[in-house]
Amino acid sequence: MNPTLETIFRRRSIRKYTDQPVEPEKLESLLQAAMAAPSAMNCKPWEFVVITDPEKLAQFRKRLIFGNRNAPAAIVVCGNPSISANPAARLFWVQDCSIAAENILIAAVSLGLGTVWVGVHPVAEFVRVVREIAGLPKHVTPLGLLYVGYPAEEKPARTQYDEKRVHWQGYKKNKRQAKSQEAK
Ligand SMILES: Cc1cc2nc3c(=O)[nH]c(=O)nc-3n(C[C@H](O)[C@H](O)[C@H](O)COP(=O)(O)O)c2cc1C
Repeated sequence: MNPTLETIFRRRSIRKYTDQPVEPEKLESLLQAAMAAPSAMNCKPWEFVVITDPEKLAQFRKRLIFGNRNAPAAIVVCGNPSISANPAARLFWVQDCSIAAENILIAAVSLGLGTVWVGVHPVAEFVRVVREIAGLPKHVTPLGLLYVGYPAEEKPARTQYDEKRVHWQGYKKNKRQAKSQEAK
């Protein structure tokens, strides 16, 4: 199989980690991948807070109800539209930061790491908690918390391809319908 597709299919949410710390160079590679992402008008309205402090990680585990994972590192993906005067940054920061986050998740697979995205924005209480623990100012919004570590569980590679979700040449026509119409 094509190695890029294989890496994408192997990305799964990992919720159990070994105690092995993540090498700082690997964390930096993940951030290199993040900042290679496209963004609207190339505004790059993102910032990243890397957390490996066990006390702060314990706080995340304790205070985020869906975020109780034992990873040795976490990356808070943040939106900061004020980085750019371009209105595209304010309009599209969620998409821009999401695609940067996905780059981290995919790159992690190729480095032998596991990840899971814990949703933060737009849940006000989660935003408040993460802002406090990560020390974020008001104009910086945490989109998500990405746990990173060496996996202590295995999950099969997969796509979730479903042809019913695909509409060719316009909504409602699936591939088979489109083909039979072409034949008429
Ligand atoms: C925006 C977003 C928020 C998520 N929030 C959580 C979360 O709070 N806790 C968690 O364990 N997984 C979370 N996930 C992971 C999803 O549950 C997971 O991606 C989904 O079940 C599919 O499984 P897979 O990642 O192994 O393909 C989140 C994923 C996304 C994209």
